[in-house]
Amino acid sequence: MHILVTGGAGFIGSHTVVALTKAGHKVVVADNLSNSKIETIATLEHIIGQKIEFHQVDVTEEQAVEKLFEQNKFHGVIHFAGLKAVGESVQKPLMYYMNNLISTMVVAKACVKYGVHKFVFSSSATVYGDNEAPFYEGMDLLPTTNPYGETKAMSERILMDLAKATPDFGVSLLRYFNPIGAHESGLIGELPNGVPNNLMPFVTQVASGKREQLQVFGDDYDTVDGSGVRDYIHVMDLAEGHVAAIEQLNAGTHVYNLGTGYGTSVLELIAAFEKANNIKVPYKIVDRRPGDIATCYADAKKAKNKLGWVAKRDIEQMCKDSWHFETKQLTETV
Ligand code: WQD
Repeated sequence: MHILVTGGAGFIGSHTVVALTKAGHKVVVADNLSNSKIETIATLEHIIGQKIEFHQVDVTEEQAVEKLFEQNKFHGVIHFAGLKAVGESVQKPLMYYMNNLISTMVVAKACVKYGVHKFVFSSSATVYGDNEAPFYEGMDLLPTTNPYGETKAMSERILMDLAKATPDFGVSLLRYFNPIGAHESGLIGELPNGVPNNLMPFVTQVASGKREQLQVFGDDYDTVDGSGVRDYIHVMDLAEGHVAAIEQLNAGTHVYNLGTGYGTSVLELIAAFEKANNIKVPYKIVDRRPGDIATCYADAKKAKNKLGWVAKRDIEQMCKDSWHFETKQLTETV
C-alpha cells in the first residue's frame, strides 16, 4: 500500500517507517521537525536501503496537507504527528488542544476528500485515566490527568464519529502503553529534546554519565515494591502492530491496546537495565510526580485475537536496545 506517515521522523513514527517498508509498503513522511531531526530521514534511508519521500509540513495547515494528497494516491494514513509532553500540556493547554485536534481533523478531512479509507491513529493508554488495570478496550474511559491525554481521548471520539458518518472509512485507534527500546541498528531511538520526561531516556542518560542521578518518583504506591508499574513495550513491536492494524483495517471503528500485558515497576526496570547492560544506574527516591497513576498495564488479548499481533521482545531486549542507541549517540557526538 501507499501510506502517508505523519510525524514519521519521530520516535515511534520512524520505527514504523522501517516496519512498513520491510513489509513492502511505500511510505511518504510528513513531519514539521518540531520534535525530531531531518537527519533521521537519511538514517532511515540507510536502514531500509531505499529513498523516502519526505515533506517538511505542519499537518495543521490544510492547504499543505491537501497538496500532499493531490500529489499522492494514498491507500492509508498513520497519524503520529502531535505534541506529547504531559507536563508541557498542563502548562500550555491551548497549544496542545489546537495542535493535536486540528492536525487530526485536517488529516482526516483530507482522507475523506481524497477517498483514503484507512486512518490509523496514534492514541495512548492515558485515555483510560485512573481505571483499574489491566485496561481493556471496552472499559469506560475516565478523565485523564492532563490536556495531552484529553487530546487523545477527544481525537478518538472525533474519528469514531467520522467513521460512523462515512461509508467505507475505517479508523484504527491504537492505544500505546510505554514504548521503549530502539531499532537493532542503534541508529534510531528516543531522542527527547532537553531534559527527558520519560523514564528510559533518563535511565540511559544517567548510565552514560550525561546526568548525575535518576529520580524515582515515589516508592509508596500500592505496587510490588512501591514504585510505579507500567507496561513497557519495545518500539519495534509497537511499529509492527501498526503494520498489522493498517493491513487489516476495514470500514468502521477499531480500538486496540498495543502493550505486552505485563507490568514492570520502576525499580524492576532499573534492575533489569543494570543486569542487561552490566552498568550501574544511580538513583534516589523522591516524591511522587503529580498526575502519575500507580499501575498501568494492558489487557493485550484483543490485538492478538483480531490482528494476530503480539509483542515479541522482552524487557531485557528493550533495555539492551535502549542502551545500544544511547552508546551510538555517544560515539556519534564525540
Ligand atoms: C514511567 C514511570 C514514573 C521518569 C507517559 C505518558 C504516556 C506516554 C508515555 C505519550 C512512572 C516513573 C519517570 C523519571 C520516574 N506518552 N519515572 N523517574 O508517565 O507512564 O507515560 O509517557 O504517549 O501518554 O503519560 O511514562 O516514562 O514518564 O513514567 O520515576 O525520571 O517511571 O513515575 O511510574 P508515563 P514515564
